Amino acid sequence: MLDHELRGAQGTAADATASAPTEGEAYKRYYDASVTDPDTFWGAQARRLTWITPPTKVKNTSFEKDNVSIKWFEDGTLNVSANCIDRHVATNPDRVAIIWEPDNPKAPARHITYRELLEETCRISNVLKAHGVRKGDRVVIYLPMIPEAAFAMLACARIGAIHSVVFGGFSPDSLANRINDSDASVVITADFAPRGGKTTPLKSNTDAALLHCSDKVKCMVVRHTGGQIHWTEGRDIDLTEEMRNAPSYCSYAEMGAEDPLFILYTSGSTGKPKGVVHTSGGYLAYTSLTHEVCFDYQPGDIWWCTADVGWVTGHSYIVYGPLANGATVLMFEGIPTWPDPGRFWEVVDKHKVTHFHSAPTAIRSLMAQGTEWVDKHDLSSLKLLGTVGEPINPEAWNWYHQHVGKGKLPVIDAYWQTETGGHLICPHPKATTLKPGSATTPFWGIKPVVVDASSGEVIEDTKTEGVLCIADSWPGQMRTVWGDHKRFEDTYFAQYPGLYFTGDGCRRDEDGYYWITGRVDDVLNVSGHRMGTAEIESALVAHEVVAEAAVVGYPHDIKGQGIYAYVTLMRGVEPTEELRKQLETWVRQEIGPIAKPDLIQWAPGLPKTRSGKIMRRILRKIAENDFGALGDISTLADPGVVEELIENRMNRG
Ligand code: WTA
Repeated sequence: MLDHELRGAQGTAADATASAPTEGEAYKRYYDASVTDPDTFWGAQARRLTWITPPTKVKNTSFEKDNVSIKWFEDGTLNVSANCIDRHVATNPDRVAIIWEPDNPKAPARHITYRELLEETCRISNVLKAHGVRKGDRVVIYLPMIPEAAFAMLACARIGAIHSVVFGGFSPDSLANRINDSDASVVITADFAPRGGKTTPLKSNTDAALLHCSDKVKCMVVRHTGGQIHWTEGRDIDLTEEMRNAPSYCSYAEMGAEDPLFILYTSGSTGKPKGVVHTSGGYLAYTSLTHEVCFDYQPGDIWWCTADVGWVTGHSYIVYGPLANGATVLMFEGIPTWPDPGRFWEVVDKHKVTHFHSAPTAIRSLMAQGTEWVDKHDLSSLKLLGTVGEPINPEAWNWYHQHVGKGKLPVIDAYWQTETGGHLICPHPKATTLKPGSATTPFWGIKPVVVDASSGEVIEDTKTEGVLCIADSWPGQMRTVWGDHKRFEDTYFAQYPGLYFTGDGCRRDEDGYYWITGRVDDVLNVSGHRMGTAEIESALVAHEVVAEAAVVGYPHDIKGQGIYAYVTLMRGVEPTEELRKQLETWVRQEIGPIAKPDLIQWAPGLPKTRSGKIMRRILRKIAENDFGALGDISTLADPGVVEELIENRMNRG
């Protein structure tokens, strides 16, 4: 019998630790058990949650094309907020749930206990209810990295409303699209978002967004900086003030395990961003288990994940996973390089952080600043390092391990996606021998397969290369695309029948370790932010001077990938430096600063097949400054354009 089954009684996971097998062999036994008998395995794991009605059914899933259906623990009921808060208040009310470190290093940090977390969350729940928000309604959250973001998410979960967090770096247009697609009745924002010494005017962005939304949408405002904002009577609600007056307790709703918990928009290879839907029971069981096991989280540890709550990493490994485990979570409002490149390490020292989880792009940018910024601070509290979001190059891995981890700490490279809810492939700190640059081996319950992209066949050889698919469901998997189940089936299950297609390429080495090589579709990963080339192209062509645009990625030392845009101007429009700047600003406004092209090349023509399809392969090669082997270009309508593009290429590095 597994330790988890022995641990028995449901609801004892307030201190859900000490359960992870720490020996390599035991870890592997768990893996084998999880994939051979998922019902028994996950039935036992479900007991880490406190259920209102414990589930009797475990797995009910189908990856069959046109009939995809994913249900876990479907007859169980629970409340996610009660699991993340109330059960810890019952046992450890004074334990710190959130340590908040503000952008300004001179401003005081906040320490929020589980008891206070309950009160603040309940106050927001009560305000939402007072303004008519009910079970199943959608609430958009557009906030800085402040505790109120976590309170708001948990407040929605408490009353059964479905939240959709929008990253504070997104533009008014992007925000409006998300409010409209999710048909939200409320957007929660703040006056301003300070970050790296600069401020983003979130409220005025929201005002601009709401011009494109139904006038039924209410706007709740957190007074964060206290700066002056425009106020629309009848629509705007002062959340800070109403929280003060609201009751500090709110009962929680009984939710089905398969009721949606949140929608999170993410970019794909085509069309507009899609609303990834995660549900309650399976998602929480999976995120809390992966947080505890993959990071070897123990009671009393101080957990810091540097992601933003606007991304899935913030959902799963700042809010839901850690809080379900009763952890102490550090939440940071700032950036790694302000006021100086030692900020991360200063914060680690100040709050005695034990677990530090960040992204390759941050590590690379700090690596470029030299080691003196790391060496200046006492990092002896650290026990474990994590990395997520994009492939980490061995050089950055080694620097992280050597200089931050002093050559001793494990580096946990966690590979997963918005769609997967939690880790797919990642090492266990005690059970897995690490290899720099490899996410190593699958987590419990995950059955990765490598598929030959051209034949669609699953490759059985251990050592191989191809596209990465997953052969069976796991509890943290997304359930659908909001409002468009067919798009869900078409995007993930149509290419390789019976398999979930990740969109990533990978290598599997002779030891069965996985090495993610990056996206095989038209999705870019810029500083760990996911973006569709199609979105940036449609923003560019929306500008009046642009006739046509094609966007590709190219290798970038710090960002992983940079954005390279080929732009064909309308006839008669003069290409100037000023126009280049204008287009950059335009894309920032249309999507957000993260989508600003790094390089724009004026392209009098684009390489197209005779049927009019843009040959992106060629554009990628030119952008990579690797045009020696362009392959067959004879099928192009006008092979002459290629010469011209090579001649005037922007990346000569
Ligand atoms: C990439 C972020 C290599 C991958 C959690 C995936 C990674 C996309 C890793 C998902 C990693 C994420 N190693 N590649 N450890 N983690 N990726 O949805 O291409 O923002 O498909 O989720 O990031 O990005 P998303």
